[in-house]
Formats: sequence, C-alpha cells, structure tokens
Amino acid sequence: MERIFSGAQPTGNLHLGNYLGAIRNWVTLQKDFECIFCVVDLHAITVWQNPQELRSNIRELAASMIASGVDPEKHVLFNQSQVSAHAELAWIFNCVARLGWLNRMTQFKEKAGKHRENASLGLYAYPSLMAADILAYKATHVPVGEDQKQHLELTRDIAAKFNNDFEVDFFPQPEPLILGPATRVMSLRDGTKKMSKSDSSDMSRINMTDDADTLAKKIRKAKTDAEPLPSEAAGLEGRPEAKNLITIYAALTDIPVADILAEHGGTQFSGFKQALTDVVVEKLAPITSEMTRLKADNAYIDATLAKGADRADAIAQPILREVKEIVGFLNR
Ligand code: AMP
Ligand code: TRP
Repeated sequence: MERIFSGAQPTGNLHLGNYLGAIRNWVTLQKDFECIFCVVDLHAITVWQNPQELRSNIRELAASMIASGVDPEKHVLFNQSQVSAHAELAWIFNCVARLGWLNRMTQFKEKAGKHRENASLGLYAYPSLMAADILAYKATHVPVGEDQKQHLELTRDIAAKFNNDFEVDFFPQPEPLILGPATRVMSLRDGTKKMSKSDSSDMSRINMTDDADTLAKKIRKAKTDAEPLPSEAAGLEGRPEAKNLITIYAALTDIPVADILAEHGGTQFSGFKQALTDVVVEKLAPITSEMTRLKADNAYIDATLAKGADRADAIAQPILREVKEIVGFLNR
C-alpha cells in the first residue's frame, strides 16, 4: 500500500518556501494517497525553543496547514510528541545508524556551525528521529523540499540496515517526492541562499502571515540585477535573483517559465515585480485570512491534533510492537 508521511517544524516564520516546496504539494497528494502530516515538535527542540512560543508555533503551523488545504478529517494531522512511537523507534534507530553516516549530514554542519561541541545531542541524532517518523508508519513516499534529500537517503540506509541486521523484510524503502517548479525557493536578499525561517532579515522571506503592504514592500525591495528580464529561460542562468522571482511567479500561477518570459522579457524588473506582488497577494491572502481565523480557535486546533494523534497511534503501535518483537524485546 502507498502511504505518504511528511512533517514540518513548528519554529515560526512559515514562509513561501515551506508552502511551495512542501505544504502545497501535500494538499495535491491528498487526492491519490493516504496521508499522514506531522508537526514535528520533537525535532524543533533540537535547538532551544521558548516553551510559550513553541506551544503557539505548534498551533500556528497546524492552522496554516489546514488553511492551505490539508484535510484533517480525510487524512491524519497531529503533532509528533503526542505519539510516543516516534521517540521509541528513534532510540532503536540510534542503535542501527552509524556515527560515520551522521557525520556526513550537511544540515547538522550548517546548523551547528562553529559551535559544534555546544550543539545538542538531539541535533546530531535529528535524522534518526526523522527516519523513525517515516518508518513508524511504513510510509512509502515522502514529499519534501530539496534540502531534505540527504535525510531521506539516511532513512533508506537505516531501513535497509535494520532489515539486513535482523534478516527480515520489514521496512520499505521510502521514496522522496521532490515536486513542483519551486523545490528550492531562494532568499529575496540573496539569490544564492535558500529562503529560511532562521534568516535574521525578515526582508529575505515572504511569510505566510505577511499582509498585502508588507508583501508589496518586500517584493519591491527584493534584490535584482541591472539587466532587463531575458526573453528565454537560458537567459536566467547566472542570474539567481531573477530566476528566483520568475520561479515563484511560475509556481504560484502554474504558468510555464517560457510563457512568463515571453510576456515580460526585455522589460525592467519594476513592472514584473508589480505583477508578482499581485499574484502573491491573490494566492496568499485567502490562506492568511483563514489562518488568522483558525489561530483564534485554540480549542478546535487542539481537538483536531488530539484526534489526529489517536489515529496516528493506531497505525504506529502495531508496527512498533512488531519492531520490538524483531529486536528481541518483550511486549506486554
Ligand atoms: P522546515 O520548516 O525546515 O521544517 O521545512 C518544512 C518543509 O519545507 C520541508 O519539506 C522543506 O524541505 C521545505 N522547505 C524549507 N525551506 C524551503 C525553501 N526555501 N524552498 C523550498 N522548500 C523549502
Ligand atoms: N526535517 C524536516 C525539515 O526540516 C522535517 C521532518 C521531520 C520531516 N520529520 C520528517 C519531513 C519526516 C518529512 C518526513 O524540513
């Protein structure tokens, strides 16, 4: 059976990269797959989170997923810490994964930076928890942005080593689904850096909570080069900022890049930026207003996540039982 699992961290500043690279694809996949979507709060605390803010960010992320079109009735939406199978299976995977594998993870290197010795043990073991998220449900497909590809490969390695060590054919090899024209949305201030919730400049990203005026200002001030827009896609090479803005426009409108350039090629950025602002506002405004409505209703969000957690638990528990059996633990 084909089953989707994906997750996002409740660390605030949900941005257009998260939407185009992940959540929007989740919404589309709901038509063809059984889907499990998770607010990964255990992953969030691998770096310090203020408890009050964390609670609010968990609710906000759930609200934005629902506002974007995730259906918590037909599919499963919950927060990770309410389903204990994630942490339990992650421990077992910590004993399957090798130090050498984790040492290669580029996201750890980026996040730990120069202060490696001071990073949490959890940040280092992050990919092993991610493997547990996916494999606790025997998920077969995992939609993510490009930055998560390496973690997915590690998940496949852990699944294979587990099967091999215990001589079973238990875990599937989950496939990454890197979908859509905008798998890597870049910063508005620097077209060579990805748009990120941790960038210190808020002008670098389009937040899902930005109002129309803020969106217009950010796009107007977005970095560009001095040349007019090219008339063909090949002309975008070596022009990362231009490429990024065109890619965002293409992704939001579903218009091919070639058609956009046929219309705007040869013109200055100012006109195109106005057109882009109109598109961004048109597409995000309904989501933002629905998000605001849902955010005011904590009771609904909490009840929805609790119900999702029950359903997730019902799928993961029998799988975890079997894992314990395979490993040689006693089940009660
Ligand atoms: P995170 O917010 O880091 O938990 O990421 C949630 C999802 O958004 C993951 O599938 C990421 O791959 C995706 N994502 C994050 N940043 C970007 C970006 N700049 N462009 C495209 N996808 C992204
Ligand atoms: N590591 C992912 C990110 O930062 C979030 C995540 C955690 C995830 N567990 C997952 C994504 C399982 C897909 C599947 O974007």
